[in-house]
Amino acid sequence: MKPLVILLSFTFFSTTLYANSHSQQHFDTGGLSRESFPEGFLFGTAASAYQVEGMASEDGRGPSIWDAFVKTPGHIANNETGEVSIDQYHRYKEDVDLMQMLNFDAYRFSISWSRIFPNGIGEVNWKGVDYYNRLIDYLLEKGITPHANLYHYDLPLALQEKYLGLLDRQVIQDFADYAEFCFKTFGDRVKTWMTFNEPRVVAALGFDNGINPPNRCSKKFGNCTDGNSATEPYIAAHHLILSHAEAVKRYREKYQRARDFHIGWFLHPLIYGKYPRTMQKIVRERLPKFTKSEVEKVKNSFDVLCLNHYTSYYIYEPHQPPSNVTGYQQDWNAGFASVTYVKKHYGSPNIILSENGMDDPGNLTFPESLYDINRVSFYRSYLKELKGAMDDGANVTGYFAWSILDNFEWLLGYTSRFGLVYVDHNDLKRYPKLSAYWFKQMLERKNS
Ligand SMILES: *[C@@H]1O[C@H](CO)[C@@H](O)[C@H](O)[C@H]1NC(C)=O
Ligand SMILES: *[C@@H]1O[C@H](CO)[C@@H](O)[C@H](O)[C@H]1NC(C)=O
Ligand SMILES: *[C@@H]1O[C@H](CO)[C@@H](O)[C@H](O)[C@H]1NC(C)=O
Ligand SMILES: *[C@@H]1O[C@H](CO)[C@@H](O)[C@H](O)[C@H]1NC(C)=O
Ligand SMILES: *[C@@H]1O[C@H](CO)[C@@H](O)[C@H](O)[C@H]1NC(C)=O
Repeated sequence: MKPLVILLSFTFFSTTLYANSHSQQHFDTGGLSRESFPEGFLFGTAASAYQVEGMASEDGRGPSIWDAFVKTPGHIANNETGEVSIDQYHRYKEDVDLMQMLNFDAYRFSISWSRIFPNGIGEVNWKGVDYYNRLIDYLLEKGITPHANLYHYDLPLALQEKYLGLLDRQVIQDFADYAEFCFKTFGDRVKTWMTFNEPRVVAALGFDNGINPPNRCSKKFGNCTDGNSATEPYIAAHHLILSHAEAVKRYREKYQRARDFHIGWFLHPLIYGKYPRTMQKIVRERLPKFTKSEVEKVKNSFDVLCLNHYTSYYIYEPHQPPSNVTGYQQDWNAGFASVTYVKKHYGSPNIILSENGMDDPGNLTFPESLYDINRVSFYRSYLKELKGAMDDGANVTGYFAWSILDNFEWLLGYTSRFGLVYVDHNDLKRYPKLSAYWFKQMLERKNS
């Protein structure tokens, strides 16, 4: 890489700084270093297929529900799409080299279901398989442990059109078949698997307010042509849980190795085989039931719990009387959780913080973006708190910063930058930000 020389000048900063001096700069790590965390603790970065790969309609990839969604003007900021994104499909080596240079141990990427099965099931797109083989092999070559996520919002469009996707039980078998193919094909090298990223978001944004594809909701709650916010979020979530459990069952039966996973809605069934009691009380007959054999399959179907943690919500009591319109948001009378909450309510499962990060608006100037002192403070504070929770006994074994590079941020398109590394969306060149060098120093290996 060519050294980057950009004059940074800030009214609030008295010394003239050059961006390339960030690499030599000495940072305040808040007392944190690799040694602050247990032996074997993994530091990684995370990203998802549609957000970084590009080549969305190339090399045999089939469309996902997001490919169809982004084509409607008005859905995404500036009508952008992930068609090219940051082209990790071709630039994965450069990106993995960056991870290595920054001293990260792991990369949590997602596999695009429709890149492997363009129609969701059936015919395999071997070019897609080859891409993930190249990525995984190169990660291993550079000493970066691959963590593969099977589903990051991107249901194959074919399955949405065929049977309404997550609303039909057929998705359980189809997802498990896809998962099994991945275990068989990549499992010799990938030891940690995740099934569904943020299933709560999938169910709530896809089926309650309908702002994400497949855009289903009751008229009361959004601008959808079809849907039912009272029932569909629960049906979709139910099928997500069963798809997860079926995939894990097959994995354990045939590909037993290391594995992974996901508060209340999703976690409770996986530990106790049923939905939380408060949820049963509130949702009642709209909440699907697990059969006896499903209870057995769902219970304990994880080894590692993955939490994506961006914002902390606090438990609150609703002040309004119960609404006479029914939807998942209305049922959600009490908020969410933190690592300590999980520990208190669900025992001490092994936890991986699978996504944590902050974005900057995309309209900052280039030097402003590179000089991301707010992101540095964010990560420093978060990791200090994480260490505190671990010192108090939380069983956390890994942490993934979101994200290694700026990328396609769903509804916000390219107007939001979450990366440790800046991407110029005109020529796709990569430039590490201050936060990248902060991690590099914090993660330095003393004896290497
Ligand atoms: C998005 O596309 C619509 C329809 O073509 C157009 O009216 C709108 O101005 C576009 N928005 C931007 C930011 O380009
Ligand atoms: C609702 O969606 C339709 C179709 O996508 C669109 O034409 C219309 O402008 C939307 N209305 C609002 C209020 O967003
Ligand atoms: C509840 O239903 C009544 C009668 O249909 C309606 O007037 C009222 O606006 C509804 N309340 C809410 C919160 O939608
Ligand atoms: C942490 O999780 C691992 C893996 O599930 C388990 O073996 C270990 O006993 C747990 N530790 C504590 C302190 O609960
Ligand atoms: C930058 O973007 C943010 C959020 O999108 C907006 O509030 C702000 O006005 C924008 N600033 C400029 C200078 O365009």
